[in-house]
Amino acid sequence: MKILGIETSCDETAAAVVEGELNSKKRLKDLSSVLASSAEMQIKYGGILPEQAARQQVLAMLPVLKECFEKAGIKDGREIDGIAITVGPGLVGSLLVGVETAKTLAWIWDKPIIPVNHLVAHLYANFLENKEDGRREVPQFPAIGLVVSGGHTEMILLKSHEKIELVGRTRDDAAGECFDKTARILGLPYPGGPEIARLADDYFKSNPSSSGKSKDQKLDLFPRPLVNQDNFDWSFSGLKTSVLYKVREMKEDQQELNQERLAAEIQEAICDCLVFKLKKAISTFEPKSVFVAGGVAANKRLGERLAELSREASWTLFVPPPRLCTDNGSYIAACAFYHFLPTSWQKVGVNPGMTILE
Ligand code: KG4
Ligand code: ZN
Repeated sequence: MKILGIETSCDETAAAVVEGELNSKKRLKDLSSVLASSAEMQIKYGGILPEQAARQQVLAMLPVLKECFEKAGIKDGREIDGIAITVGPGLVGSLLVGVETAKTLAWIWDKPIIPVNHLVAHLYANFLENKEDGRREVPQFPAIGLVVSGGHTEMILLKSHEKIELVGRTRDDAAGECFDKTARILGLPYPGGPEIARLADDYFKSNPSSSGKSKDQKLDLFPRPLVNQDNFDWSFSGLKTSVLYKVREMKEDQQELNQERLAAEIQEAICDCLVFKLKKAISTFEPKSVFVAGGVAANKRLGERLAELSREASWTLFVPPPRLCTDNGSYIAACAFYHFLPTSWQKVGVNPGMTILE
């Protein structure tokens, strides 16, 4: 079965064709995955301007689809078996570009359309083959999924593809948002996550003895909110504020801002919060698999911390390669493969405020 996945929930315009066999334990294959981003424009404005993003997506949609089909060796749209489309959550104008395109194609080609929840879909990056880890098997249930993106931070318990429960979430900012906003405080461009990661990496390289355990290296300048509470929730807004106050104080005292050190401090605080609550969820739900998804899952330090946690564990860790962590069409198609619920195009519409359980 071949599925076309279309993703336009934020500033990217992405399409992919994914192939898989029903009832197979093997991961799905990416026949092609194409992405156009208006990131350069966002860098200029320090964030996403929804109107600008949607206009760029209108222009990018058809060239992206054309390239996607060419790369997958598909000459006629009727060769595919279904069209998966992100219906939410996301920016309304951006979502509309993808949804209306998908509906048009479904109508013209007389193909089923499968509405996809972007948040659930992120998890399905772990069901796709990738050269980086070379593994073929799909994750086993029950599984704990940690979704860490720019707008969401959620702990999900998956008993099966159909039984998905939300067990924890952030009460305010998402982990990615915390990276982005603290990066901004440090004067770094948007998106801040990769920038903080790069500077923190430089810090670890020039301080090799400090790259091990977070407590020993005394990267404890900032708080770890909610870690002492008996739940699976997070809060990142206090962490962001304490970075703001610290930087302000350093400037007032005319202290030199060591950006690399501050980036390492921020990254470690965020990783500590995520890992701490994940550990708690693992000991409570005893999963067979643990997987992460979303843009922040591309963070190298988080990957190292999770690998450390998984050593000699009874569960298997899945971390997608960075290109599958950030928004793309492949995991949208993969999600539709396992949740193949065709809907008539007349009933498909955008749902900008969609939650993970819808
Ligand atoms: O999942 P995603 O591509 O888009 C959303 O659905 O939000 O996630 C984007 C988020 C941004 O906040 C970005 O700063 C963060 O992922 N991000 C990272 C890294 N790469 C992307 N955060 C930390 N380290 C990274 N290497
Ligand atoms: Zn996303």
